[in-house]
Amino acid sequence: MEKNIVLIGFMGSGKTSVGKKLSMDLKREFIDMDDFIVNKEGMSINDIFKKKGEAYFRSLEKELCKRFADPKSKIIATGGGVIKNDENVANLKKGGIILYLKSTPKQIAYNLRFDNTRPLLAGSGKEEKIARLLEEREPAYNKCADIILDVSNIDIDETLEKIKALIK
Ligand code: S3P
Repeated sequence: MEKNIVLIGFMGSGKTSVGKKLSMDLKREFIDMDDFIVNKEGMSINDIFKKKGEAYFRSLEKELCKRFADPKSKIIATGGGVIKNDENVANLKKGGIILYLKSTPKQIAYNLRFDNTRPLLAGSGKEEKIARLLEEREPAYNKCADIILDVSNIDIDETLEKIKALIK
């Protein structure tokens, strides 16, 4: 088995879209952590946060990361907050190469302009919320990444070409 390719980065930076396409191109299995959790709980992320709380969601996320501590040749799209927990990072790193899709608050706010599925960005002042949370998390993203790819000015096809060249 080869190392997993683990996509990290802020909400709306393209982890899921990139991961899906990459999995088709590389013929590797794709797992979206949020989708996995939603299916398991039978509830949307919004409802999990509302009805069970963020701490419960983080515990599910943590359990799931433990499964990825071994190389299984998968492409994994993580949730943007996965890096908040050191044990998650250690597990993901053990089994995979960590690729940070780095973007700007402006681009992220644009990508998420019609989105209402992120409980942490609900309400008004989305771009400010993004900027604040990104500033807080940026050091953790940078620290745990094996590869950093700035995707703020490139489209998905270009992103895929770059990733394929970087992981060769
Ligand atoms: C979160 C990111 C979301 C999801 C949850 C919390 C975060 O995933 O896990 O809403 O803390 O950044 P995406 O990065 O796929 O949006």
